[in-house]
Amino acid sequence: MSQETLGPDPLTVFEHWFAEAQALDPRFADAMTLATASPQGRPSARTVLYKGLDRGALCFVSNYQSSKGQDLEQNPYAALVFYWSGLNRQVRFEGRVRRAPAAWSDSYFAARARSSQIGAWASTQSQVLASREELEARIAAAEARFSGQPVPRPEFWGGYQLEPERVEFWLGQDARLHDRFSYDRRESGWLVQRLSP
Ligand SMILES: Cc1cc2nc3c(=O)[nH]c(=O)nc-3n(C[C@H](O)[C@H](O)[C@H](O)COP(=O)(O)O)c2cc1C
Repeated sequence: MSQETLGPDPLTVFEHWFAEAQALDPRFADAMTLATASPQGRPSARTVLYKGLDRGALCFVSNYQSSKGQDLEQNPYAALVFYWSGLNRQVRFEGRVRRAPAAWSDSYFAARARSSQIGAWASTQSQVLASREELEARIAAAEARFSGQPVPRPEFWGGYQLEPERVEFWLGQDARLHDRFSYDRRESGWLVQRLSP
């Protein structure tokens, strides 16, 4: 594979690879690892689901008060990684994360299943629970609160958008001679370089 084959815009390349991954195996093609770091530089990573591109940024949704939310509040730099085993391809993103505009989060939340909307209200994500019963009681309380009416988006829940400053494509090849291409954002556009595997 060559730089010319990939093309000059990393998000176009990513959309292409993502479509191929979904076509091959739609189960969890949208699962990506999100790494954040505390202000003290302590990293943590977890899986979140990719929710598409918005104005050049990768979207995901979460609880703003979760551990990741607290990291991002204080240190907006984060990384995202996809690995699609069927294609033996990896894509890495690094950049700043911002909250999605309220209108984006509202429209995403409104389209979710009601059970997911209730779940967003019921879960104090990343906080300690005394028992599963406590969670079930919180779900019952949210169901009662919004009985017979639409569930509004909680203020503490919504979208995030990572605007990439660096993107790397990794394509597994025979004999460990893998292809790697990095895209670094410059004033003039993207600087594309081949990296040693
Ligand atoms: C396949 C998969 C998809 C997930 N998708 C999301 C997601 O889209 N948003 C989210 O907040 N958590 C998602 N989770 C849960 C997170 O991995 C994590 O447990 C949770 O967000 C709390 O992380 P934190 O305590 O670091 O904030 C997902 C987990 C798995 C295994």
